[in-house]
This record gives sequence, structure tokens and C-alpha cells, in this order.
Amino acid sequence: MAPLIAVLPGDGIGPEVVRVAVDVLRTVRPDCDYVPCEVGAGPLLATGHALPDETLGACERAAAILFGSVGGLQFDGKPLEERPEWALLRLRKHFELYANVRPVQVFPGLESASSLKPDLVQGLDLIVLRELTGGVYYGEHRYERTPKRRAFDELKYDEDEVRRVARFGFELARGRRKKLTSVDKLNVIATSRLWREIVDEVAKEFPDVGLEHILVDAAAMHLVREPKRFDVIVTENMFGDILSDEAAILSGSLGNLPSASIGTKTTPHGKFGLYEPISGTAPDIAGKGIANPTAAILSAALLCRYSLSDEDSARRIERAVAHAFADGLRTADLVGTSRPLGTEEFGAAVKASLGEMPLARSR
Ligand code: IPM
Ligand code: MG
Repeated sequence: MAPLIAVLPGDGIGPEVVRVAVDVLRTVRPDCDYVPCEVGAGPLLATGHALPDETLGACERAAAILFGSVGGLQFDGKPLEERPEWALLRLRKHFELYANVRPVQVFPGLESASSLKPDLVQGLDLIVLRELTGGVYYGEHRYERTPKRRAFDELKYDEDEVRRVARFGFELARGRRKKLTSVDKLNVIATSRLWREIVDEVAKEFPDVGLEHILVDAAAMHLVREPKRFDVIVTENMFGDILSDEAAILSGSLGNLPSASIGTKTTPHGKFGLYEPISGTAPDIAGKGIANPTAAILSAALLCRYSLSDEDSARRIERAVAHAFADGLRTADLVGTSRPLGTEEFGAAVKASLGEMPLARSR
């Protein structure tokens, strides 16, 4: 059976960047069945459900989900269950996609687009591994109005949740430079006590991988002071959300960074997963055709790697993106761009480079 890919463009720039990513993916994998599905503000406003049953059903049958972004300014102030984001959180939980891999790399030629000095980021290659199905995102949220307004968010983890993502982190690091940095807030919160204890236990299974623990505030500082000191960073859900945006911008733009969310489910084609840009809906530029589709295209590459077990196609796509950047092609979000390309134009350039060989300084 042809692998089925559930395509969920969502809101904001999601549809623009996902269209381009599917176009690239279809070129390398014409054999897949691409099924468009509704998610986010559209179905929420029309039917009251941000994640329609038909969409969830298609995702159930799929080998992977290619996701755009969800959200909308008109929902600010609403509780989570009444926001488009709820659909994404449900999908992550429904499929128990606990390991969120966010690779941060600086493509040759983009060093000067970074907010840091070029030598601090040249050749940067790190991964933020974010725990994705626990923590404060999935605790109880309460907002009370009387006798005075107050709010409450529950932050909890159990040892199994920490252990599985810690193992995933050690495995990732083992295949790379063998350095794992675990980030917590041990000096204040109880979940961090548990986190550090379990990570230390798991470390005994991986004597070949170096482990360091750092506090989240220090991690935020090191990321802008000396980002190349990191190889794989593993951390809990909310810290990972924050640190991955910080790390992403080092690459020149939030619009460059893809992500893969993986869990325990497998299909005949590989690991089931959800693939999405980390950048969000970008309401300020939505609909203008100028969004950077790189994150979505690179997410499609990760989809090939993990969910289709197709390393060749993953590398082809990654090489094509590297070629486009090396040729000086840029979208408007990258600093120092004199003649920016639109979303479709950049996508067409990537597509045209799909047959290229690795760059001399390939990464
Ligand atoms: C992300 C996003 C989401 C998150 C939002 C849209 C709920 O910021 O994937 O990083 O916080 O997980
Ligand atoms: Mg985020």
C-alpha cells in the first residue's frame, strides 16, 4: 500500500508553506497518497471543533502528518480548549508523540543573517529535544474570577515520561558528538528533581555519552554566548518550547527550523510522526506569499527520514535547500537580503535543485 501522508496546513502562513513543502515532497515521493485535512481556526469557527473527527481519522490511517501551523489573534483571552492550538496539543497527546526533535543548523552562506557574530554560529549544528506530551501543557489549567481573579497551572511528570525522552536523547547524542545537555530548574521545582534523578539513572546505560546538567536560565545564556558548546539538549516541554525559539533564531530566521514529533507508534513504512515548522502562524505576513517555506520543506525531509525510512529522499531535500542558500537565494525574513524571493519562488528554486550533488562543504 502506498504510504498515506495526512496534510494539515492549518492557519496563518501554514497553507502557503505547506503547499510548497508538499510540492517538493511529491517530486521525490510521487508514490505517496497526500490527503488534505482541515485543522485549526477554520473548522473551529465553522463547527466548534479545531480537530474534526475526519481529520483525526485520516491521521490514524496515515504514515505521517505534515502540519503547518495553528492559531489566531481573535482567540486571545480564550481558554486552551477553545483555541486552534488545542488541535495540535490533542494530536501530540493522542499519538503520544513524546519526542520532539528540533535540529538547529546554520546553512553555509547564512552566517551573516544570524543575530550573533558569524564566527559564533558558523557550522552550528545542535538539536533541541523537547519532551512533548507532559508537563504544564497537559496539567490542569484553572482560571477563577471570584473572590478575586486567580489562575492555576499544574506541572507534573512521572518517571516513565522522563525516562523515555532521556533515552531518546542519549540515543540521538550517541549517533552524533556524544554530548547530552539536560536542562532543568533543579534549584526550585520538584519536577526538575525527578527529571535530574531519572536522567542520571538512564546515563548509566550510555557510558559512551557525556552528560552535563544545566539550569534553564544558564542554558538560555549559553545559547547566545557560545552555542557551539551544545550537541543535543534534552529538556521538558515548556523549557523546550522557549529554548528552541531562542536556538532557532541563531540560524538566521525562525522560518528555517523544522521539527519532528515522534512516539511509540510505527507503521509498515517507519516511525509514525508529526512534522511541522516551529515558527507558528506569523499573522503579520500571512497571505502575502512572502513567508519562508524552509522549515516546512525541511520538515518534509525529516518525514522521509523517520516515517518513510527513506534517508536518500531526506538528504536530497536537505541538499537542495543548502544549494538554494549557497546560490544566494533568500526570502525576506533573512537579514541582509537585497532581492528577496517569495514563498513559491523559493520553493521552485529548491525543487529545481533536487538533483544536485552535496555541496563541497556539505553538512
Ligand atoms: C511550538 C508552538 C506550540 C507549542 C503552540 C502553537 C501551542 O509554540 O510548537 O513550539 O507551544 O508547543
Ligand atoms: Mg513554540
